[in-house]
Amino acid sequence: MSDEPVVGRAPGKIILFGEHAVVYGEPAIGLALSKNASATLKPGRGQVRLRLDEGINVAVSENAATPKDLVAAVLKPDLANLDVELALEFPPMSGFGSSAAIAVALIRAQDQLNGVPPRTFAVAFERALGVETVAHAKPSGVDPAICLKGGLVRFVRAGLRPQVSRLKMKLPAHLVVASAGGHGGTRQSVTRLADMKATTPKLVEQAMQTLGETARVGGQALLSGDFPTAGLAMDLANGVLSGFGLVAPAVEQGLAICRGAGALGAKMSGAGGDGGAFCALFDGVRRARRAVNLLNEAGYMAWMEPLAESSGPTSDIEPSA
Ligand code: PMV
Repeated sequence: MSDEPVVGRAPGKIILFGEHAVVYGEPAIGLALSKNASATLKPGRGQVRLRLDEGINVAVSENAATPKDLVAAVLKPDLANLDVELALEFPPMSGFGSSAAIAVALIRAQDQLNGVPPRTFAVAFERALGVETVAHAKPSGVDPAICLKGGLVRFVRAGLRPQVSRLKMKLPAHLVVASAGGHGGTRQSVTRLADMKATTPKLVEQAMQTLGETARVGGQALLSGDFPTAGLAMDLANGVLSGFGLVAPAVEQGLAICRGAGALGAKMSGAGGDGGAFCALFDGVRRARRAVNLLNEAGYMAWMEPLAESSGPTSDIEPSA
């Protein structure tokens, strides 16, 4: 084991379509963020520190895993002889996949420390998913899959063998990403929806199928460059998620600001609940920049997330069972 500090990095994510429904087997589409989590390991005595980029201010939720829980789940006995500094360029506990990004960054740092060669997607996915169970009630795996694969990703949970593929989208389109504080915990909202499904199975199943359809139609529209249809799918998905009580008033107001600035569609993103992430699609860069300015002036944390015609493999990769 080296005495030099080692650093692992991994991106956050924003889900464009299919959150919650993905837990029930529907597809989800998400994008790896340009903002990262990093984990620095150096010899020490088991101290864990989390540093947030300037301007990030999120109330700690009792329902979320602590950084220490995640670190312990990855490093196990190694932690006793290490100090760990975690750093986030995006808000935690808000729907940007901080627990998956921290888990993957830690795994990459630990592998460097131990001289382990880069893992295949399948092996890294299973390891990260194992760590994610610390943070989620019933993780679908969508967060670590997007984080590990990068770019625009389609994910379907199919038993133990999820299908994960990188998508090539048409440009130009512009994505505004923002957050309205923490969302209050993924475990809590996933459990609440599971309870609703137990009480009114048909109603909830139909709603999940509708969310799945927004992912199918919206995802296809992104690939073909039919941005008005992608925007419509986002708005419809937001309506269903709002019906589940997952779109906080502050998020609704943020979405209204985006639509007022000319968004083609806008929706909450991630687990939702008390606040959290949201995103909006634009076909004009000036309108998108205006939305970012208006949101930041109104106290949200907003930025434009670069979209690329992602290159690289497009075939499905199946993690081993
Ligand atoms: O924890 P979040 O806010 O990044 O949301 C994850 C997406 C969910 O569909 C709500 C949960 C899951 O495991 O898929």
